[in-house]
Amino acid sequence: MDHLADSQRVLTIGEGDGRFVAELVRRFPHIEVDCLEGSSAMIARARARLPSAAKVNFYHVDALNWEYPVEIYDAVVTCFFLDCFSDKTLREWLPRSINCSKPAGKWMVAEFREGVGGMERLRSRFWLRVMYLFFNWTTGLEAKQLPNWQGLLDELGYGCFEKSETSNAMIYSSVWQRWENARKTDGFNP
Ligand SMILES: C[S@@+](CC[C@H](N)C(=O)[O-])C[C@H]1O[C@@H](n2cnc3c(N)ncnc32)[C@H](O)[C@@H]1O
Repeated sequence: MDHLADSQRVLTIGEGDGRFVAELVRRFPHIEVDCLEGSSAMIARARARLPSAAKVNFYHVDALNWEYPVEIYDAVVTCFFLDCFSDKTLREWLPRSINCSKPAGKWMVAEFREGVGGMERLRSRFWLRVMYLFFNWTTGLEAKQLPNWQGLLDELGYGCFEKSETSNAMIYSSVWQRWENARKTDGFNP
């Protein structure tokens, strides 16, 4: 979240029950946030978490078909949203939505990921399989496995300049920016 400190306007996609946006406006009350969310129940929960002065707008929409404005956000945040979709859907959607961030804007992602080797890889594959089976069965989730959203961001000219993972290495947060801007950013690590 520290990467958002100097943002004026942020978009969150698939906000869910509002834990992210509530913490964001608690830490940085000056930020104006637009949240896209397809579930009215989630929006109600999210609203209930916010202080009355929070500058947050909720849009009850299908984020895959929203008319994205052009270059108005300092940052876009997706937490556990990209992994709901197949590569095919993301390949169609991401190029239509990505230009809503300003040319030097950041794209911040939190997602599950597969471990890199040995037991870590086996354990993460097992739990990802269990989670996808469960969510396919209970919610009809489109994706059957983790999509390669990193490859797509790369193809669209974005580079990752910061990442961190949880101690069991299954959750991975990363900050992306267009290559020409990322190269100028301290800590850039292609
Ligand atoms: C896995 S949850 C993540 C929620 C939250 N970001 C978090 O990290 O806890 C995915 C969220 O995206 C929303 N969502 C899924 N598909 C969507 C779509 N096409 N348009 C808008 N919201 C969508 C779901 O309703 C859900 O709240």
